[in-house]
Amino acid sequence: MDIAGAPFTDALVTEAAHRRAASTRRYLMTTPTFFAVEYVINPWMDASTPVDTGLALTQWDALRQTYLDLGHSVELIEPIAGLPDMVYAANGGSVINGKAVVARFAHAERAGEAVAYAQWMARNGYEPFETRHVNEGQGDFLAVGSVILAGFGFRTDRRAHDEVAGHLGMEVVSLELVDPRFYHLDTALAVLDDTTVAYYPPAFSPDSRAVLARMFPDAIEVTSADAYVLGLNVVSDGLNVVLPAAATGFAEHLALAGFRPVGVDLSELLKGGGSVKCCTLEVHS
Ligand code: ARG
Repeated sequence: MDIAGAPFTDALVTEAAHRRAASTRRYLMTTPTFFAVEYVINPWMDASTPVDTGLALTQWDALRQTYLDLGHSVELIEPIAGLPDMVYAANGGSVINGKAVVARFAHAERAGEAVAYAQWMARNGYEPFETRHVNEGQGDFLAVGSVILAGFGFRTDRRAHDEVAGHLGMEVVSLELVDPRFYHLDTALAVLDDTTVAYYPPAFSPDSRAVLARMFPDAIEVTSADAYVLGLNVVSDGLNVVLPAAATGFAEHLALAGFRPVGVDLSELLKGGGSVKCCTLEVHS
């Protein structure tokens, strides 16, 4: 690498960028037509904080447009009145390896959402597999290459990990979440490509931290400042990483590692305890 004449970091960024490549993705999203904070099921939610549903819609639409501009496809699930958290489509299930698992929600308030995701799966040629134990879809099950990282401790029941592994025929690595602010795996860990992740170590038990350190020695570890704006709740296509705009430190790290950070503002949806990834169910081919 010839770095003469170029600032050292620029040369490193360019070198790293050459290793990254985007691939076209298929996403499912649900319009926040009925979004509100009407009940409290995670520490981010406060039923006394007013929610501007119009602003939530505008911000969500900018996220959808960002995906389209990056060349990805976005399919929509019809929102249902009375299900204010339905905008967090990631929780609807998991679709990968030609198979689909529909969510079984931990809280009765969200149970009705599963029906809509099961219908989408059936309409699109998948048989929706139902777990006996609680599983909150891609909130807690994140594919990294041929392995699935699975969270437990707050929502998804650890016993569902085995059910999902068996049904999908994929290896599942269980990770224990210990901080209620990071109640889903996708709030504590970001998958950037088939071998690269970023995470917030304090969100995990010591054992799970050791597992992550062993599996991903080159992982990006984010600071509290980035984790506390749900900076890890991102969607990556292998090159472009769509992330909450407030996570500026993480964005810098991503750029140094050769990714292209694309910041979006989802401040209204943060009031429900979710951001970019929560609003996006990826249909893996
Ligand atoms: N209010 C929702 C809940 O607590 C937010 C879900 C966020 N989704 C996610 N994938 N982390 O269930």
